[in-house]
Amino acid sequence: MTVSPTVLHALTERLASALDAHLARAVDWLPHEYVPWSQGRDFAELAWEEAQSRLSTPVRAAVTVNLLTEDNLPGYHGTLARLYDDRDPWRSWLDRWTAEEGRHAIVLRDYLLVTRAVDPSALEADRMATVSGGYRAPEKDLLRAIAYVTFQELATRVAHRATGRLSGDAGLDALLRRVATDENLHMVLYRDLVDAALDVDPAAMLRAIVDEVAGFEMPGTGIPGFTRRAAVIARAGIYDLRVHRDEVVLPLLRHWRVFDRDDLPPDAEHVHDQLAAVVAELDRRVSRLGSRRQLVTA
Ligand SMILES: [Fe+2]
Ligand SMILES: [Fe+2]
Repeated sequence: MTVSPTVLHALTERLASALDAHLARAVDWLPHEYVPWSQGRDFAELAWEEAQSRLSTPVRAAVTVNLLTEDNLPGYHGTLARLYDDRDPWRSWLDRWTAEEGRHAIVLRDYLLVTRAVDPSALEADRMATVSGGYRAPEKDLLRAIAYVTFQELATRVAHRATGRLSGDAGLDALLRRVATDENLHMVLYRDLVDAALDVDPAAMLRAIVDEVAGFEMPGTGIPGFTRRAAVIARAGIYDLRVHRDEVVLPLLRHWRVFDRDDLPPDAEHVHDQLAAVVAELDRRVSRLGSRRQLVTA
């Protein structure tokens, strides 16, 4: 924890109420109910072949990257455990969030394997490589971390919904909508924490938002072939820089009213200029794309 005691106190109070609200809203769904088990066959009886899947290459790439990202949960848990206070409500939230994210990996893997959408041996090799590589998070304080996870949870929700829509597969769409609803609740909780920090230290929180908009990177960059797979996902329009700006960054900046705040101390007014500059740079990168799709990297 590297934030001031005042900010930490405000965040802790807000997290206590946000966690209660999360637990009241969260639906306890069952992953096995979203998997068409009757389609399953032993791989020893019928070897895997790509043609067995009806899903398109970009949809399979998107679900696989999302699964491998979820598989690396121990790395994120460790990173957040070091960053968060070891007492409640931080500890309870981290444990609950971990349990929910683990459910996402379970349902995605079961679905991909039963429907033969992925080579099971290659998937396991990629999981071993991803998790063995760990998660090396850049050094961040708590304010940058809550800004990052707000953007990241919303990005995941948007990507899941787009993947489901594009899949033409009602079962996968229903599953991804279910997972996206969880990601949305995670986003809402973190967005709420950012709101609390903006109330007590708007300059520090805005600076953290500037840094995270400027350097955003999805957590799956350690997945084998991530750049190639992200390019396939971007070209299909599932998630690219334009989607990132229009459906993730700008809606959150509007929610936090970042440009309307009149409560910045005089020595922090320049933070508005910094934020305007990183948004303008994002606009420039998006407009340079033209009809090309660009993946989201820092
Ligand atoms: Fe998830
Ligand atoms: Fe999530």
